[in-house]
Amino acid sequence: MAEEEIKKGLDGVVVDYTAVSKVNPDTNSLLYRGYPVQELAAKCSFEEVAYLLWNGELPSSGELADFTARERAGRPLDPVVKQVIDALPTTSHPMDVCRTAASVMGARHSLAEDSSREANMAKALDLFAAMPAVVAYDQRRRHAAGRPVEPVEPRDDLGYSANFLWMTFGEEAVAEVVEAFNVSMILYAEHSFNASTFAGRVIMSTLSDLHSAVTGAIGALKGPLHGGANEAVMHTFDEIGIRPEESLEEAADRAKTWMENALAQKKKVMGFGHRVYKHGDSRVPTMKAALDKMIAHYGRPELLGLYNGLESAMDEAKGIKPNLDYPAGPTYHLMGFDTNMFTPLFVASRITGWTAHFMEQLNANSLIRPLSAYNGPDERHVP
Ligand code: COA
Repeated sequence: MAEEEIKKGLDGVVVDYTAVSKVNPDTNSLLYRGYPVQELAAKCSFEEVAYLLWNGELPSSGELADFTARERAGRPLDPVVKQVIDALPTTSHPMDVCRTAASVMGARHSLAEDSSREANMAKALDLFAAMPAVVAYDQRRRHAAGRPVEPVEPRDDLGYSANFLWMTFGEEAVAEVVEAFNVSMILYAEHSFNASTFAGRVIMSTLSDLHSAVTGAIGALKGPLHGGANEAVMHTFDEIGIRPEESLEEAADRAKTWMENALAQKKKVMGFGHRVYKHGDSRVPTMKAALDKMIAHYGRPELLGLYNGLESAMDEAKGIKPNLDYPAGPTYHLMGFDTNMFTPLFVASRITGWTAHFMEQLNANSLIRPLSAYNGPDERHVP
């Protein structure tokens, strides 16, 4: 096979249809089931968006009430999942904890081997409802430093985002923080055939089960070229040095210098660039507005200085724009999440888009099995 026929990284290859979302890098738009993501982030709860991704339509008030009741019932941490988490070292990455929890949930699911649409919808909803307790408990046990830690029980009177923050921090978050978190969940929910979605679709195409596909997708999301970038952004901020006493301008100057040095050393700076968007990520303005509100709420202008300094230096040097992970990282930091918890937050959100794709894959399935061009030794024989 000629070298030019190989599309490294499947760059530019269209592999299938999807009705879940449409990314248009030319118009810089992202539609979930036809709705602009910015409108959804401004007007909807994450629960409504999850319903939309799975069902193709926004819920009526009755449908939303049923859906919400079902989600709230699925929130408590399964004692067996808790035991398994407790057996994992706190030195393990929280993404390994998420991946393991998803796998255990699959093995314990009453409909484990049922691949009907109804069973898969139930599994998707169960994962969506349960993952916040996994992430919240994992952060709490890491903070307990070996002392016994009890999970904070979910609250039925709180929506998804408010309850997530409640279970993590054990106190009720103010409305602005809940709103910013809700926006981040909606923006992270879905993005067509990205690496983790595609990895999961490959697994689903073998007629494996939904939890296996989610478990594989979590593995793909962990990498810093994909979801792990939101955590890597914070490592960059840490490396430059977060100095709350500093002014916005001072922080921006130090960040610019850091970026110039990094680019001179040909480093890849996480949180910048995108395989599909080449003129900026459609989700960034909405997430940046949420970050701005959090910076004002927590009174931390120096973080905006670091943000602006890196962004403008990258733009001047290479014209490369930030992706969603860039504003999401410092937003989660301000809310109080540990840096290594950022990608698990992405998991909690993306479970919705992933499972919408996996059900779509099953609905019009063809085993995904590409070809390769062999470039090893010619045929030879054992002496
Ligand atoms: N920092 C510095 N340079 C970057 C860059 C970044 N974040 N992203 C792209 N570039 C440069 C590359 O070095 C390359 O330059 P060159 O042609 O001089 O060698 C050029 O831009 C093309 O990059 P490439 O990695 O080939 O593009 P891609 O489409 O394969 O990459 C990403 C897309 C996302 C993998 C890439 O932009 C990246 O690694 N970004 C950082 C990780 C990240 O934030 N991931 C989250 C994505 S939502």
